[in-house]
Amino acid sequence: MPNEDTRMLKLAYQQMPYGIIILNQRNEIIFMNQMAEGIRGRSAQIIQGNNVLSCHPQKIKEVVARSLKALREEDPKNSNRMTIDKRNDKYYETNYIPIKNNNDSYLGSMLISKDITEQRKLEEKRLSHLKHFEEEADRLRAELQELFFSSLDSLIKTLEAKDKYTEGHSTRVADISRKIAQYSCDVSPQIDTIELASQFHDIGKVGIPESILNKPGKLNEEEFNYIKEHPILGEDILAPILKPKSIKPKPMKKVIRHHHERYDGRGYPDGLKEDEIPIGARILAIADSYDAMTTDRPYRNALTPRTALKEINSNLGTQFDPELGEIFLMLHDKGVIN
Ligand SMILES: [Fe+2]
Repeated sequence: MPNEDTRMLKLAYQQMPYGIIILNQRNEIIFMNQMAEGIRGRSAQIIQGNNVLSCHPQKIKEVVARSLKALREEDPKNSNRMTIDKRNDKYYETNYIPIKNNNDSYLGSMLISKDITEQRKLEEKRLSHLKHFEEEADRLRAELQELFFSSLDSLIKTLEAKDKYTEGHSTRVADISRKIAQYSCDVSPQIDTIELASQFHDIGKVGIPESILNKPGKLNEEEFNYIKEHPILGEDILAPILKPKSIKPKPMKKVIRHHHERYDGRGYPDGLKEDEIPIGARILAIADSYDAMTTDRPYRNALTPRTALKEINSNLGTQFDPELGEIFLMLHDKGVIN
């Protein structure tokens, strides 16, 4: 190549807006342009002939050494070697390119460094905005959730007010369920989910005619079929639940849907049995039955706690989960539940 052309080529490399370092086979620097001098903080005249690793901070020396080794040993088409390092508050992205002759023999390599500080700052700004938006969305979601639950709460209270027999039932059932859940579940979000599901377990009754809900005598088949709809209606009413951090909407809806299943599979609405029934629904079934038995109903007076406990005990394994039932009886015995 004529001297003039070589000079032109050198000037072009010198003036490129990227830091360029050319290495020989032994990774010694044979060329370094002005931008690379600025990035490395070293003069080309001083550093020329030195191993390139000597102008890298200790912590990325190993990464650079690995990249250079890969250039020598791997097919460059399949290897994309790139490092990012920070110097004096600036970020640089360096690409490693092998230099090979026509016979594909490795002659050395070229390191091209680009200042990506602005790009990084924009990315950091974008991430911080995104985080802010996510936090705001979480806050709004929690507010909406609270609003949704407080309207459900009003609905439950309206439902209970219509029927003086069930006043306070939901709150008492939620309290008993939580106590059983604390002894049977390891995970606290599950306990919160069970408690909340218990609070709203009969929400579906808003869709049942009052004449059936408050009927003093025995229900006929058609009326009972209406009643059997309330767990499904309850699940539907809770459909708009969002995703608050501590509550799992899907399990909560399932606890409500299955709170009238029986352990022996003869319950409703789906006839699930044993472990097919979500644990929350098995817990709720015990709490619900105990509270229902110990309060006055249109069709009978309240049973004493002693009689209700006997009733639960004699239905373990048929209506109720035997293990959870034992936990309930033990908690009652200890005075945790009364
Ligand atoms: Fe129910």
